[in-house]
Amino acid sequence: MSMSENLQVLSPLDEAAILKAVENALQDCSQAQTLEQLAFVRSSHTGEKSPLALANTQIKDLDPKDRAAAGKNMGMARARITQALGTKQEALEEEAAARILETETVDVSIRSGRVTLGARHPLEVLIEDVTDLFVSMGWDIAEGPEIEHEWFNFDALNFDIDHPARQMQDTFYIDSASVGAEDGQQANLVLRTHTSPVQARSLVSRDLPVYIACPGKVFRSDELDATHTPVFHQVEGLAVDKGLTMAHLKGTLDHFARAMFGPEAKTRLRPSFFPFTEPSAEMDLWFPQKKGGAGWIEWGGCGVVNPNVLRACGIDPDVYSGFAFGMGLERTLMLRHGIADMHDIVEGDIRFSSQFGLVGRGH
Ligand code: DAH
Repeated sequence: MSMSENLQVLSPLDEAAILKAVENALQDCSQAQTLEQLAFVRSSHTGEKSPLALANTQIKDLDPKDRAAAGKNMGMARARITQALGTKQEALEEEAAARILETETVDVSIRSGRVTLGARHPLEVLIEDVTDLFVSMGWDIAEGPEIEHEWFNFDALNFDIDHPARQMQDTFYIDSASVGAEDGQQANLVLRTHTSPVQARSLVSRDLPVYIACPGKVFRSDELDATHTPVFHQVEGLAVDKGLTMAHLKGTLDHFARAMFGPEAKTRLRPSFFPFTEPSAEMDLWFPQKKGGAGWIEWGGCGVVNPNVLRACGIDPDVYSGFAFGMGLERTLMLRHGIADMHDIVEGDIRFSSQFGLVGRGH
């Protein structure tokens, strides 16, 4: 757009010049393609410094008899321009709105591509790690039922008939009637209180030698609090072969500890008692990350398989011997990751699980 030809001052009586100014304005107006350009056209042709506005200011200096004619000329000229600007303004606004509608259309049916990822529960990942470790040592993974016969849970494991663990306050018994037992008959079923019954199950069902690990769910009538939960997980280990000793147990536990807690980890055994092992030990874990400084932390129980257990499962204790161990997996997870409260593990809040990242198989 060229404005230079409009710069000389017009006379409000010069109809031809005014017409020319109007035509210039109308032409610029029709050529404006955007609202910004139109705003420029508007200020050029109607603004204070525009030729027509300047001409308008001269009316007052004219001979009074010419003023009416000059006023009429100017009024008509300015009205034509204002109208053209208005019409063009409307058209450009409509166009702009249509363009926005087109370019900013949102297809609400399109897939966003932002899928919120879930997270695997860290306990499940830990169980896989434990499983992989024992499989890599050539051990089998064994399983047993969560509703267990009292014989496997207690008797086969050399628990006395009046052992305190058998009492109702520790053990969930299955109501005999609920599993269809005849009146007065006992079903003798419990929710297994540990994974140790899988030892007896494996010994009666497998050929010797036996090397098994069994991660699984166990139940005790505890209240849920920061360190207890009525449903938790253990991993049981059992090796029965010719010539196995406490030394094999210690080597296996140290290897397990290093796999779980890193190369500095090691274990130590303290004398203890379990009915199904003799001798029995509590196993402590050397824990460099312990709060308040490195130290020993109780990790599980273990021992040399009691000959009574071997006998109960039909194995000659003069020929075979073995070792066993068992530890809590929630506890292992809490130690490994510095988790202070059991609630976090059992509540299933995705914000807890997702902190561990997408670890485990397939990732
Ligand atoms: N079953 C025991 C418990 O739940 C843990 C345990 C101790 C398992 C000694 C074993 C073992 O195999 O030898 O407390």
